[in-house]
Amino acid sequence: MLARVLGVGCALPARRVDNREIERHVDTSDEWIRSRTGIRERRVIRKGERLIDLMETASRRALEASHVAPGELDAIVVGTVSGEHAFPATGCELQAALGLDRISAFDVAAACSGFLFALSTASAHIRAGDYRTVLVVGADALTTMVNWTDRRTCVLFGDGAGAVVLRAHEGDRGVLASVTHASGSLADLLYVRVGQRGGYDAEPQSDPGACIQMKGPELFRWAVRCMGEVALEVLERAGLAPVDVDLVVPHQANLRIINAVAEKLEFPRERIFVNVETMGNTSAASVPIALDEAVRAGRLHDGDVVLLVACGGGLTWAGAALRW
Ligand code: ACO
Repeated sequence: MLARVLGVGCALPARRVDNREIERHVDTSDEWIRSRTGIRERRVIRKGERLIDLMETASRRALEASHVAPGELDAIVVGTVSGEHAFPATGCELQAALGLDRISAFDVAAACSGFLFALSTASAHIRAGDYRTVLVVGADALTTMVNWTDRRTCVLFGDGAGAVVLRAHEGDRGVLASVTHASGSLADLLYVRVGQRGGYDAEPQSDPGACIQMKGPELFRWAVRCMGEVALEVLERAGLAPVDVDLVVPHQANLRIINAVAEKLEFPRERIFVNVETMGNTSAASVPIALDEAVRAGRLHDGDVVLLVACGGGLTWAGAALRW
């Protein structure tokens, strides 16, 4: 029994912020941002806009693409670190927004790896026979946690939500293998305290120390290493090799990280899906947003092997190999 992806959906805030606009607020340049990260623009949540609404839209689009009614869901698993409340979980809020009741709904907190941790959890439940149909969401709004006067972090992030519907499948399509890892001893590479929220359109935060703290260059090296290792590990578990992969959909943090991982594993550029240029790093939303774009661009075909990899705060890192 495998957990098969029936359909994908995503939702983005309408507000685009390009590098030229950021140039007006902090000492940076479009040239620096593009050459060091590959990012040209990102979408940001505006004051009053709610991530839960993007999650609901992404979920309804994924359900529609799957030809599944909300009432057919047995569980909802959300990868996010951006919930508005310490509790209830955003999964519970999403369940109510979709007009559902009683089915299991919970969050998985693994920062940028959140969607893959959620996918792995949902897939394990399906394989165990606990649930037949599960909605898996990745959503984050890290632009509400950055210090918009800190050029080292504010240029990197964007907001959004992505979702997939998984269903138990007796054939050979679905999640062939998934792997999750964490190193809590590396927590200081990227973290943010619970509490203060701001945003691009909001007043500057009263305590910049409560915004995202990051050791960029060190994180860069760990991300390349971890995503490379987990790619090989998950492929081995699936009985596959890099040469068998039709499309890699990596976490979109930085084009240089993606290129370094691709080079390490000798994945040709045309087999890597990249949209960091227009999205920035949307954390847990990054993989499902990219997957949705890849599907809509006709980059995935029946029977293709798809490799998903991510790395984020925690440190956390994860991979999944799927037959489409
Ligand atoms: N504009 C202009 N100059 C900048 C900017 C900016 N936006 N940001 C940093 N600089 C300056 C620094 O101040 C530094 O100047 P100095 O030498 O005078 O002190 C210089 O550029 C080099 O800084 P580094 O941090 O060494 O630059 P680097 O080439 O490592 O690039 C970056 C920084 C883009 C953050 C990179 O380290 C990176 O991408 N790291 C991973 C971060 C990441 O992806 N985080 C997201 C979450 S984790 C994940 O998703 C995997």
